[in-house]
Amino acid sequence: MAKEVRVGFLQNNPEILNTKSNTRRIVELLDEVQDALIVLPELATTGYAFENKYEVAEAAEPADVARSPVLEAIADKAARNSLHVVIGFPELSGELIYNSAVLIGPSGLQALYRKIHLFDREKLFFTPGDAPPPVIDVTGYGRIGIMICYDWYFPETARSLAFRGADMIAHPANLVLPWCLDAMKTRSLENRVFSITANRCGTESHGGRTIRFYGRSQVLSPDGNVLAVADDAQEEIRVVTIDPATARDKAISQRNPGMCEVRRRLLPLE
Ligand code: ACM
Repeated sequence: MAKEVRVGFLQNNPEILNTKSNTRRIVELLDEVQDALIVLPELATTGYAFENKYEVAEAAEPADVARSPVLEAIADKAARNSLHVVIGFPELSGELIYNSAVLIGPSGLQALYRKIHLFDREKLFFTPGDAPPPVIDVTGYGRIGIMICYDWYFPETARSLAFRGADMIAHPANLVLPWCLDAMKTRSLENRVFSITANRCGTESHGGRTIRFYGRSQVLSPDGNVLAVADDAQEEIRVVTIDPATARDKAISQRNPGMCEVRRRLLPLE
C-alpha cells in the first residue's frame, strides 16, 4: 500500500431524471482531478425524489460498463485520469431495481453494493440488497468499504466493514435526516477508519414533493476529525492526502486495543 493516497468527494446537484446532462457534468468535474479515489453521492446521475416506479425503471441501468452509458462514461474518465470512483446509481438487474453503488477503477468495474437499509419512499421503488457491503483491496489505496446513505443509522454496517478490514468507508449519500454528518464522526472514531461521505446539494421538486439536500460532504480521519468539508449549497470536488495505514492501528492506548477488545468479548474467536 502506498504511504499516502489522495481521496475525496464530488458533491453534485443533479437534476431529477436528466441522466445524460447529470453524467456529462460529473465527467466534466471529474476531469479536474487525477490519481485519486473520488466518492460521489447516492443516485448521483438521476436525482432522488422519484414519483413512481416507472420513472425509476426508465432511469435504471445494469451494473455493467458495456451496457450502461453512465458507467461507461465514468469508466472512460477513470481510465484517462487514473481515478477510482465510487458512485451511486439506480441499478437494473432482471426485473429488479436496486439503489446501488459501484467502484470503478482505471481498468473497469471493481465492486458493486446494493443498499440494504432503504429509507422511506425508496421502499416503493427499490429492492433491498441481500449481500453484505463489500470491502475491496485496491492496489495502492488499501481496503475500501462501501455503504450507502441511511446505512449510517445502523452502526453494524460500518462495524462490519471495519471487522472485514476496511481502512476507509466510501459513503455515497442523499442526506435527508440531520444527524448523519455528526454520527459519521462516531462511526469513524469507534472503528478507527477514514470515511468519505459524499452528499448532494440543491433542492429537488418533483411529483408534488420538495426535498432540500444540505451538502457539507466530508472526509474524516480515524479520530473522527474533519479533514475536508464542502459548502452546503455548491457543487464541489475536493481531495485530501491521507495515509490509510493509520487506520490499521486500532489502539486507543497501550492497554486499550480499541475495537479488537469488543471483538474478543462479543464475537466468537476465529
Ligand atoms: C437516504 O438514505 N437517502 C436518506
